[in-house]
Amino acid sequence: MTTPAPDIFDDIIDSLKRRKLAGEEAVVLAPDTLRALFASPKAVRSPIPPRPAPRTPRRTDQPVAGSHMPPPSAAAAGFAPPRVSPAPDVETADWDTLVKMVDDCVRCPLHKTRTNPVFGEVNREADLLFIGEGPGFHEDQIGRPFVGPAGQQLDKMIQAMQFTRESVYITNIVKCRPPGNRNPNDSEARVCLPFLKRQIDLIQPKAIVLLGAVPLQFLMGKTGITSLHGKWLDYQGIPVMPTFHPSFLLRSPARKKEAWEDLQLVMKKLGKDPGETLRRMRAGR
Ligand code: URA
Repeated sequence: MTTPAPDIFDDIIDSLKRRKLAGEEAVVLAPDTLRALFASPKAVRSPIPPRPAPRTPRRTDQPVAGSHMPPPSAAAAGFAPPRVSPAPDVETADWDTLVKMVDDCVRCPLHKTRTNPVFGEVNREADLLFIGEGPGFHEDQIGRPFVGPAGQQLDKMIQAMQFTRESVYITNIVKCRPPGNRNPNDSEARVCLPFLKRQIDLIQPKAIVLLGAVPLQFLMGKTGITSLHGKWLDYQGIPVMPTFHPSFLLRSPARKKEAWEDLQLVMKKLGKDPGETLRRMRAGR
C-alpha cells in the first residue's frame, strides 16, 4: 500500500485538522484526486492502509465544499505537491456560498437522515427575523421552514404583526430535521450554529423573535422560556424577543394571549401600531 510523501501529508493533515476543528466529521476525495496522490513519484510505503472515502447520500457529481484539489495532471507532470485549499469560511461566506455549504454539510449525523436541508427564507433584507428549533416532517420534505401546522400558526402571528411571510426571514437553529421531530442536541446545535450566525450577520435584522426554548438555549445560552418570554435580550446589538413556539401555542391556546403581548412589544420596537391590527380584524381585512 502506498501513500504520498510526508510533505504532501503535511499540507493535507493541516487542512484536515482545520476542517475537523471547524466541526467537519467526514471528507470525501474525488477518485481523480486519490489517483493523483497515489501516482506521485514520491509516494512511500505506509504501514497504515488508507481508509476508504466515507459514503454519503449526496450527489456524487458535486465535490464537498473545501475539498478542492489540483487536477491529476499537475502531479503527473513532475512532482507538484497538491495543495488543499482551506475550507470556505462560514464567517465570511456570501449567501450563495452559505446555501451551498448547508447543502453539502456533513458536520453532524442529521445529514444522514434528512430528505432536504432547510436553509431559511424569504427576505434577506428583512427587519424581522424568526428563529425556530429545526425542520419537522413537512419542512424536511420540501426544504422550506415552518410549512406544516406550526407554520400556519406562525403565519397568523406574522400577519397579526402586520408583516407578510415575504417581508420577514424565517430559519431554525439546525438546518436538518432531527429524527422524530426531537429537539436538536448540544453537538448538533453547536456545529450548525455558525450557519445561523452568518445568516444574522448578513441580514442585520432590526429585531429577532426566538420561537421557544430551543433557540433561547442555543443562540442566547439561556433556559426558562416561561420566565424569559416577553423580556428583551440582546444579540450583538440586535434586540431579541423570546416567545412561545407556535406548536406549543397550538397545544396550549390559553397561552396565545401572552405570546401576542410579546409580539406587540416587537411591533412597537419596529414602529408598528398594534391597535391597527385590531382595527384591521374588525374591518375583516
Ligand atoms: N418547527 C420549527 O421549529 N421549525 C420549523 O421549521 C418547523 C417546525
